[in-house]
Amino acid sequence: MEKLKEILSLETIQTRVKELAQEISASYPPEESLVFIGTLKGAFIFLADLVRFLPYRKNLEIDFIRVISYGLSDTSSGKIIITKDIETPISGKSVLLIEDIIDTGLTLSFLIKHLRNKDPKSLKICALLDKKERRKEESPIDFVGFTVERGFLVGYGLDYAEKYRHLPGIYEVIKNGE
Ligand code: IMP
Ligand code: MG
Repeated sequence: MEKLKEILSLETIQTRVKELAQEISASYPPEESLVFIGTLKGAFIFLADLVRFLPYRKNLEIDFIRVISYGLSDTSSGKIIITKDIETPISGKSVLLIEDIIDTGLTLSFLIKHLRNKDPKSLKICALLDKKERRKEESPIDFVGFTVERGFLVGYGLDYAEKYRHLPGIYEVIKNGE
């Protein structure tokens, strides 16, 4: 069995998510039509907290997209497929893509291409975690919660083989022998 080491407490995460919600809100005019798109499953808690802390605005829609990437163990190979696309038309709307964690960056650049094809007015990126060490493709990330160098992280939506998504904080997985 692996062990877990706390990296970010729920309190630390929520303080930062509140700040992000303010930053995001301030970057769009109050009447702008916004669509927040969360990536399943990892961003489900982050998106839920973000919209609850967002100052009130009338024109906000929420949708989800799910992609899977085929890879060995915990590294994505870059072969990415969509298993659930968004259902909301985004043409002419301002879109914020909400990601749990950017690792190699391959999923993000795939999603950016996919969403740009749907002709949004603008497309910005918000990631809870920006993990730098294994980056292969750089895309500009407009809003970042926390930057981390390395480590496999779980909790607050993130999983290790579908475990630990429900944990309130964020933990590093310490595998046996490490
Ligand atoms: P990328 O395409 O390599 O950037 O991978 C992004 C996806 O890989 C994320 O949306 C996660 O689903 C998964 N992932 C990458 N690093 C971690 C991690 O540390 N913990 C949990 N999932 C991760
Ligand atoms: Mg995952």
